[in-house]
Amino acid sequence: MASDERTGRRIHRNRESVPRTAEIIRQTLYQRKYTVIAVILMMLAGSAVMLVQPLFYKMLFDRVIPESDTGLLWWLLAGMVATPLIAIGISYFEGHLRVRIGYAVTVALRKTVLNHLLHARLDAIEQVPRGSMVYRVTRDAGKIGDMYIKQELLPVVSSTIVLAGVLVVMFVLNAELAAVFCAALPATYLVTRYLTRYSKEMDREVNDQGKVSESFLYEVFNAFRTIRMFSGEGHAMKRWAEHMDRFNRIRIRGAALHDIMLTFPNEVINGLVLGVLLGYGAFQAMDGAVTIGSLVAIMAYAPRAYAALRTVLTTYTGTRLIKVSVESLNELFDLPLEPGLRGSFSPQPAGVEPPAGVEPPNIEFVNVSFSYERGYELKDLSFRVNGGEFVGIVGPSGGGKTTIIDLLTRLQEPESGRIAVAGRDIREMSLESLRNQIAVVSQDVFIWNATLAENIAYPDTGYRPEAVEQAVRASALEAFIDGQPKGLETIAGEGGVALSGGEKQRIALARAFMRERSRILILDEATSALDALAEEKIRTAVEEARIGRTTIAIAHRLSTIRHADRILVIDGGKLVESGTPRELVERGGIFARMYDAQALDFE
Ligand SMILES: Nc1ncnc2c1ncn2[C@@H]1O[C@H](COP(=O)(O)OP(=O)(O)OP(=O)(O)O)[C@@H](O)[C@H]1O
Ligand SMILES: [Mg+2]
Repeated sequence: MASDERTGRRIHRNRESVPRTAEIIRQTLYQRKYTVIAVILMMLAGSAVMLVQPLFYKMLFDRVIPESDTGLLWWLLAGMVATPLIAIGISYFEGHLRVRIGYAVTVALRKTVLNHLLHARLDAIEQVPRGSMVYRVTRDAGKIGDMYIKQELLPVVSSTIVLAGVLVVMFVLNAELAAVFCAALPATYLVTRYLTRYSKEMDREVNDQGKVSESFLYEVFNAFRTIRMFSGEGHAMKRWAEHMDRFNRIRIRGAALHDIMLTFPNEVINGLVLGVLLGYGAFQAMDGAVTIGSLVAIMAYAPRAYAALRTVLTTYTGTRLIKVSVESLNELFDLPLEPGLRGSFSPQPAGVEPPAGVEPPNIEFVNVSFSYERGYELKDLSFRVNGGEFVGIVGPSGGGKTTIIDLLTRLQEPESGRIAVAGRDIREMSLESLRNQIAVVSQDVFIWNATLAENIAYPDTGYRPEAVEQAVRASALEAFIDGQPKGLETIAGEGGVALSGGEKQRIALARAFMRERSRILILDEATSALDALAEEKIRTAVEEARIGRTTIAIAHRLSTIRHADRILVIDGGKLVESGTPRELVERGGIFARMYDAQALDFE
């Protein structure tokens, strides 16, 4: 269970029909059917060329030598030199095409899976460790396309035909000797089958441990700063060593058994069969039942048939083993889609304009209940924010303020009750049009490793520079940007490492101000990291921005919302007080106590 949670293996089932791994592979191969056919034909041609060689031996022993036919000898020599050259030439092109097909499958899987993750439900996705997602998108998808499809699935078609072809030729040359050879096939098959079952378990363990280790690495990479601050280097190294130990144990156990056992018994069988062929063939030749040429040719065919058989069996093994990666990717495809998206969905173009609503919409929560698995809940919450109103939400930490915003933006779904924007149930709108109506500055700001301008205009790539500059002014970022060596073109660093907390918040504010058409503005602790002077500037900007907008500001610092038309106090998932700031102070409830506590600071 614990390891399941860490690898994120067993998650919500997905009820919608979403194309899964096998189907994507099939579609990709079908789209490239001509290349696939070309590869198979080339492989067949290459094998056919090489299969001619043993017939040269037959001619050598049965005609050239007995009849001293030197003319034919020259032809044979030419053939012996030419055949490998032709085969190599063919295999070069065929190999090149196979790489392309394998890569196409990998790319298709990687694209589809990311698209799915972008549209999957947030609460489901948040249960999967990010490192494990990275592992699946990169390694598992790569194993399927670049290794399995390219090296196993495509070659198997021609190998099967070659195997059949060689057997036919062997039977034509001498049925009894061919039958002796065939006796080895079932034994080889059984050995492989038995060992495959074992290898699959092993592969699953390696895969699971790989995901866990990669998730740990991912955490470390995000925590360099904290680790140093707490002298946690030793702790990190100790845990990493444990990860590597577990990994090694599985690997070593795997390698020893896997490689030796998978090849060794088959080599023994191969050797035995050749021995029997040699002995039995010699007696047959002495009796004159088989010509020396045919015997030599059969002896030369046997290893080739065996090689083809090995390819077929390797693919058999590979097909069972690749299931580990297929299942691993399918677990991502099984993540349920966001509500309102069913089956088909397409990537949203960046920077879509919201529907041109002009009037600031009202927002209504009617008897909304919601709970997280851990037990926290919103109970029967009802409130209304009028169009154009500026409402402040305050309340103790963990009271459910951010949850209200998550419900309004449909990052979470209520269990019961109704949420309406401009009188329309938000479930009736597309997620895109709902979210485009709302400009949010979240409590946790995310900064892309891109230029400041790109961060502000996100996700609009065709932004107008003047609009960005205006947003910069409104969010009190001017002085900061002017001080940067490259101004707006300065790179923010991953997660905004090169920015202070307050700078990040102001970039998030500017990002919200950029959404000129969004008629709802939501600020969730948007100025908590700012100094009083910067906050004052922002407040003026918000006063301007709220014109023509419905605004909700969540704040612990009451000064931030002192101009609010109305305040809602949320505690324990309930609306406990509501009214103008003045009314609430006079009422002497939670808000009044918070007010007193903050006012004390100045006494
Ligand atoms: N993804 C989640 N899974 C489970 N519980 C959650 C999740 N997100 C939040 N919670 C819980 O829900 C409760 C409400 O969280 P919420 O973020 O709405 O509080 P908040 O009022 O915004 O607090 P703060 O003022 O500290 O930001 C908290 O007790 C929190 O632990
Ligand atoms: Mg919050």
